[in-house]
Amino acid sequence: MDDDRILIRRAGPLQGEVSIPGAKNSVLKLMAATLLTDGEFTLTNVPAIVDVGIMAELLAAIGVRSERLGPDVLRLTNDGNITPVAPYELVERIRASINVLGPLLGRCGHVSLSLPGGDDFGSRPIDMHIKGLEAMGATFELRHGVVEARADRLHGADITLEFPSVGATENIVTAAVYAKGTTVIDNAAREPEIADLCQFMVGMGAHIEGIGSSTLVVHGVEHGELHAVAHAVVPDRIQAATYLAAVAVSGGEVVLRGARGDHMDMLLRRFRDMGLTITATADSLAVWADGSLRSIDVATLPYPGIATDYKPLVVTMLTVADGVGIVTENLYPGRFRYVEELQRLGADIRADGHHAVVRGVPRLSGAPVRAPDIRAGAALVVAGLAADGVTTVTGVHHVDRGYDDLVGRLRLLGADIHRVPAG
Ligand code: EPU
Repeated sequence: MDDDRILIRRAGPLQGEVSIPGAKNSVLKLMAATLLTDGEFTLTNVPAIVDVGIMAELLAAIGVRSERLGPDVLRLTNDGNITPVAPYELVERIRASINVLGPLLGRCGHVSLSLPGGDDFGSRPIDMHIKGLEAMGATFELRHGVVEARADRLHGADITLEFPSVGATENIVTAAVYAKGTTVIDNAAREPEIADLCQFMVGMGAHIEGIGSSTLVVHGVEHGELHAVAHAVVPDRIQAATYLAAVAVSGGEVVLRGARGDHMDMLLRRFRDMGLTITATADSLAVWADGSLRSIDVATLPYPGIATDYKPLVVTMLTVADGVGIVTENLYPGRFRYVEELQRLGADIRADGHHAVVRGVPRLSGAPVRAPDIRAGAALVVAGLAADGVTTVTGVHHVDRGYDDLVGRLRLLGADIHRVPAG
C-alpha cells in the first residue's frame, strides 16, 4: 500500500508538555453503546484517530449518525431506526466492531454480524462472548462467516469468565443492561476503559455495581428507561506510555497533561525500576529521564498487570537499557512480529514463542522499518528516537488507527521527526 512515511533522527533531551487524548479502546466501545437507546449523545476528549471514523461508518450503516462538532467532540444521533446488521466490509477493519453485538442483542433481539477483523496477531476468537450471551438466553448460528444471534428477551445469569477478556466483558455487560433480572459477571476484565463504558451506561440510567472490580452486577432495566448523555472519554494510557517511553530513550523532562497515573500504576512502578523519575497528580504525569535505563523482566497480564499493548514500548526501552531483560507475553501468541524490525535497527533480541530476551546495546542505528500493527508501529517510532542516523517507518496507516498526531506531539517536545506524505 502506498502510505505516508515517518522520518526520525536522534534528538533530545525532550522538553515541554503534551496533552493525552482519549482512549481508542474506550471511545469505540462508547460509540457502540449509543445503539442502546434513542437520542443525541455527545462525547468529548475523542481522539482524532482512523478507527473512530471506521466505527462511525459502521454505526451509520446500522442507524446511528456521527458528526464531529470540534476537534475532540463527537455527536452521535440515534433516532431509533436501527438495522441490526453489521456488514463485512466494515467489520473486518476493526476488532471493536464486535462491540455492537451486546447492545444490538439487548435492544433488537437479533443481530447479524460478520466475524470481526482488526490487528492480525494470533487467533482472536469470540467463544467467551458467545458463551456468556448464551447463558443469558441468546442463541447463535454461524453461517458463511456471519454470526446470527437471537434472543426474544435476554435474562439475567451468573457468568464466570474463564479469562478476563476485555471484549467479552464489554459485550456481556452492555447486553445485560436490558436483560430481565440480574446478571453477575465474575472474573470480569477490570481495564479502566471498561469502567469508563460502565460509567457511561450508568449515566444513561443503567444499574451497574462493582465498576472497576472483577465482579460486575447488572440489574436489567426496561426499554425506554435509558436516555442519551454527554460523556468525556477516559484518557489513553497507552498513548501516555508512548510519550513516557519517548522521554525514557531520549532523556528530558516532560509533563503529560490529562494522563491518569492511577490507571497506569504497575507500569509506572516498572518504569521507575528502569530509572525514570515520574510524579503523578490527579490529571497529569511529570517524567524526568537522563537517557540511561536499567533492564527489568516484564510479563504481560490483564489489568491491573502490565498490558500487552505496552509491551512493544517496553521491549524498545530494553533494547537500549543497561543489562538483559526477559519479556513474557501471556495474552496473545505470536505478538513479537516487530522484533525483526527492531533487529534491523541493531537491537539484540532473541524471541521464542511467548518470550523475548533483550540485551541492551548502547545505541540503535537508523534503518527503514515497517509497522506491523498500531502499538508496534509507535514503538518503532520511539526506537527511531534512540537510533543514530535516519529511521524511516512505513506502514504508518497502522499507527493512525490508534494515535492522535503522534508525530506532531513528539515534534512539540523537540523530537526531530517528520511525516512525509505518500507519492
Ligand atoms: N480470547 C478468547 N476468546 C474470547 C475472547 C478473547 O480466547 O472469546 C482471547 C484472545 O484471543 C486473546 C485474549 O483472550 O488471546 C485477550 O483477549 P481480550 O478479549 O481481552 O482482548 P480484546 O477485547 O480482543 C482488547 C483491545 C486490545 C488489547 C486487548 C488486551 C480493543 C478494541 N482491543 O482486545 O487492544 O490488546 O484488549 O488488553 O479494545 C490495540 O488497541 O492495539 C489492541 C489490540
